[in-house]
Amino acid sequence: MTGGLDSSMRGRPNYEELNLIGNGAYGTVYKARDLSNGNQIVAIKKLRVPLTDDGVPMSTVREIALLRHLDGTVQHPNIVRLLDVCHGQRLEREQQLILFLVFEHVDQDLMTYKDKCPAPGLSESRIRDLMFQILSGVDFLHSRRIVHRDLKPQNILVTNSGDVKIADFGLAKTYDFEMRLTSVVVTLWYRAPEVLLNQSYGTPVDIWSCGCIMGELFSKVPLCAGNSEADQLDRIFQVIGTPSESEWPETVSLARDSFVQSPGICFTTLSSDLSTDGQELLKMMLQFNPVRRISALNALQHQYFASNGYTCNPYSFPV
Ligand SMILES: Nc1ncnc2c1ncn2[C@@H]1O[C@H](COP(=O)(O)OP(=O)(O)OP(=O)(O)O)[C@@H](O)[C@H]1O
Ligand SMILES: [Mg+2]
Repeated sequence: MTGGLDSSMRGRPNYEELNLIGNGAYGTVYKARDLSNGNQIVAIKKLRVPLTDDGVPMSTVREIALLRHLDGTVQHPNIVRLLDVCHGQRLEREQQLILFLVFEHVDQDLMTYKDKCPAPGLSESRIRDLMFQILSGVDFLHSRRIVHRDLKPQNILVTNSGDVKIADFGLAKTYDFEMRLTSVVVTLWYRAPEVLLNQSYGTPVDIWSCGCIMGELFSKVPLCAGNSEADQLDRIFQVIGTPSESEWPETVSLARDSFVQSPGICFTTLSSDLSTDGQELLKMMLQFNPVRRISALNALQHQYFASNGYTCNPYSFPV
């Protein structure tokens, strides 16, 4: 099985490959059976880590150690579990090490879950519940100073019973640009404006992505489906309105005038299902200025959830 799990998962015969789940920008995910653990079904992500003169980069060691620690200490219901980490072949010529991250297997990603839902699609209350779970997982990561940086429907997994599990967090440095498989197009659709404008960024980028996901769940089409960085910014401004001259960051080298000038859309037009509270929360998540963007913790406490009996999860405490 060239290129699959078996060829390079040296010394770990306990994982039996079942099938390929999919390819991402940095690796390949396989469905497998853990023969040493009651035949538990797992998802194994195969990554190629570039080697430095000292071996595996420290940033990779640190990130994986943090993920293992996170999984070993507090387990959050909305975070996918990392069960094992093993290494395969060392490819001397390519200066790469193959790494296998073994995760709990989750039935499908949010996109498939949404597409599988019979007409007329996800109900208003189901979307609210999914958003509450996504924000709970994000709040948990943020309280541990982990910025996901790549939240998108493919990285939000959903069980058949509707439980959300966030995947692919905490590996920003491991997923080095050099490792990117050039054949896979990286989506820009959920990327925050400060990232596109090369500004410094932190936890608010994940809230931006949550806003894009919420908008998409209601309107059934991606909120800003750009095909280049400039096009992505144009589409963002079409939705939220072009920032005023005073809001435009001084450190941005691009002129504000080079972008589409738009007043923005009214969020009522996204879906008749989106309540006034929902529109308000969405607006707070899609603030251009990251400092003004709502935090995950405050989003969980917003009226949109509170008025429907949701109470903030107990995991929100700074460490
Ligand atoms: N634990 C898991 N259980 C089930 N499916 C998974 C699991 N982890 C990832 N997948 C699925 O495998 C596929 C490939 O995932 P992968 O992370 O490699 O790519 P991606 O999420 O599309 O992009 P990126 O590389 O930017 O994360 C996706 O459809 C993803 O939803
Ligand atoms: Mg992924």
